[in-house]
Amino acid sequence: MTWTRICSISEIPEDDGLRVDLQNQPPLAVWCVGEAVFVTDDTCTHGKASLTDGGILDGFQIECGLHLGAFDIRDGSVTSAPCTVPLGVYPVRLQGDDVLAELPDT
Ligand code: FES
Repeated sequence: MTWTRICSISEIPEDDGLRVDLQNQPPLAVWCVGEAVFVTDDTCTHGKASLTDGGILDGFQIECGLHLGAFDIRDGSVTSAPCTVPLGVYPVRLQGDDVLAELPDT
């Protein structure tokens, strides 16, 4: 696991998500809810839908825009069918304006 800079906190829309594509990583989503920042996988575990593109963030729940399955962005747990597999969630650290996440080594 390696701490990796994901984006600047100022790039994340408030109460919404930002898709981030890094080299050699699956697409990530960075979410800002109030003062809290979360990093998850961007691809819904039910299909290939992007959660930041068409998903609806309601509090800590992201609802997928394709079949309306949902996850809790704090721990990746499934909160609504048809999703059954939890979403990948990564530890986050803020360093100044930078958002860092601890990502698996590739
Ligand atoms: Fe997300 Fe089906 S692809 S709920």
